[in-house]
Amino acid sequence: MSEELIPETPEQETEENEAAEPIKQRKNGLYPGVSEELAENMKSGWADTELHGLEPIAQAEHTATRRAALSARFPGERLVIPAGNLKTRSNDTEYAFRASTEYAYLTGDQTQDGVLVLEPTGDSGHQATIYLLPRSNRENGEFWLDGQGELWVGRRHSLAEAEQLLGIPAKDVREIAAALAEATGPVRNVRGHDASIEAALTDKVTAERDEELRVYLSEARLVKDAFEIAELQKACDATARGFEDVVRSLDKAEATSERFIEGTFFLRARIEGNDIGYGSICAAGPHATTLHWVRNDGAVRAGELLLLDAGVETNELYTADVTRTLPINGTFSPLQRKIYDAVYEAQEAGIAAVKPGAAFRDFHDASQRVLAEKLVAWGLLGDLSVDKVLELGLQRRWTLHGTGHMLGMDVHDCAVARTEAYVNGILEPGVCLTVEPGLYFQADDLTVPEEYRGIGVRIEDDILVTEDGNRNLSDKLPRRADEVEAWMAQLKD
Ligand code: GLY
Ligand code: MN
Ligand code: MN
Repeated sequence: MSEELIPETPEQETEENEAAEPIKQRKNGLYPGVSEELAENMKSGWADTELHGLEPIAQAEHTATRRAALSARFPGERLVIPAGNLKTRSNDTEYAFRASTEYAYLTGDQTQDGVLVLEPTGDSGHQATIYLLPRSNRENGEFWLDGQGELWVGRRHSLAEAEQLLGIPAKDVREIAAALAEATGPVRNVRGHDASIEAALTDKVTAERDEELRVYLSEARLVKDAFEIAELQKACDATARGFEDVVRSLDKAEATSERFIEGTFFLRARIEGNDIGYGSICAAGPHATTLHWVRNDGAVRAGELLLLDAGVETNELYTADVTRTLPINGTFSPLQRKIYDAVYEAQEAGIAAVKPGAAFRDFHDASQRVLAEKLVAWGLLGDLSVDKVLELGLQRRWTLHGTGHMLGMDVHDCAVARTEAYVNGILEPGVCLTVEPGLYFQADDLTVPEEYRGIGVRIEDDILVTEDGNRNLSDKLPRRADEVEAWMAQLKD
């Protein structure tokens, strides 16, 4: 459906070619092609649907705590955190909107064009205001004639409703440019989401100070609160059901392509969550050796492996990131099993190294050592010792990537945290990360026996650091080879 279905009057169409203009451009207070009688008619006859006594959203207390921590970090400064805008896909169609992580983290809201402003209330403390597009005005026609009119895009919350739900005073977003223009004193803005906010603040901000705000918000998410942990568990549980769906549909994928797997998982993501948290990697056969295989247009053949790396993003925007490597016919061949077991052992060693007080790098080192041991034992590295292989990093020809990363609202969460806080940091309870070792033998790798070529295996789980060790949030999916086979057999019955 398109906005051009609104009828035009014949005179205006012919005289000014108004039919070609976007309907949302008003002239002299009137929309083109609308008779005064119709405009008058559309003003009235609508019920009052205002909602009263709404309960705050489930994470309102948590978002208030997060805003308080942000306020304490930047006393006396105005902080501007935009949700972002729609992005054009083609002509008048847009990509699905996904609010910026920073905005959703601090507000629990996901409305396009929304902006959170923390205004300093003196030397310490801030007053939060959320700027949103209010309900459509019915008097001036925007309700049914404007591109963002509710008749076209659906009912929004009124500002009063948003205040009750979010626990943040709300104002009309159309006032924000003027409010920011008048603002005096230091300002910081999270860049990269809303060009109009950046334009309004050009003379008031610096790239360096804005980056400090972005870094703070990345590091603030390193330790998850109780709401976030529950969301990540929900994401992992839904993801496990998505993997089950895929196993049940493998015969259909064999009859079509990897696309059937992608579509099957996506259906689960949309039924139980907001979306997939990243492009699903549905890599059958030799495609498993391509780390970011998201074309997903290849054949699915019995006797080969399927590497499926996929995650459901919940409605509150927390994502799982899980990989299983499955024998498409339900049983690993002896060589597939040998390589799979090596990766499994490496993952076990990695998971065991995830605990409070451990260095973030420990689980990577533990996994890499196991993989290097296997590669040496298989004779792929000549006479070199495991220590020498690790020193020179030679195992990386086949291990390719780091063994894991932080997980949360972004699949690669906390990505702009400082090295000392993340990569060189120490694990503490509430940190959630992936442990995902892999071995990948490229189809054209002449340094390995021919039968290894085209085999790729990764096993990836989402691990929460707890007070006394860790908890595997994705343990509803089996990992050990014999358990994987039994699970597949049971699902296919
Ligand atoms: N799915 C992307 C990753 O595993 O990091
Ligand atoms: Mn990952
Ligand atoms: Mn992954």
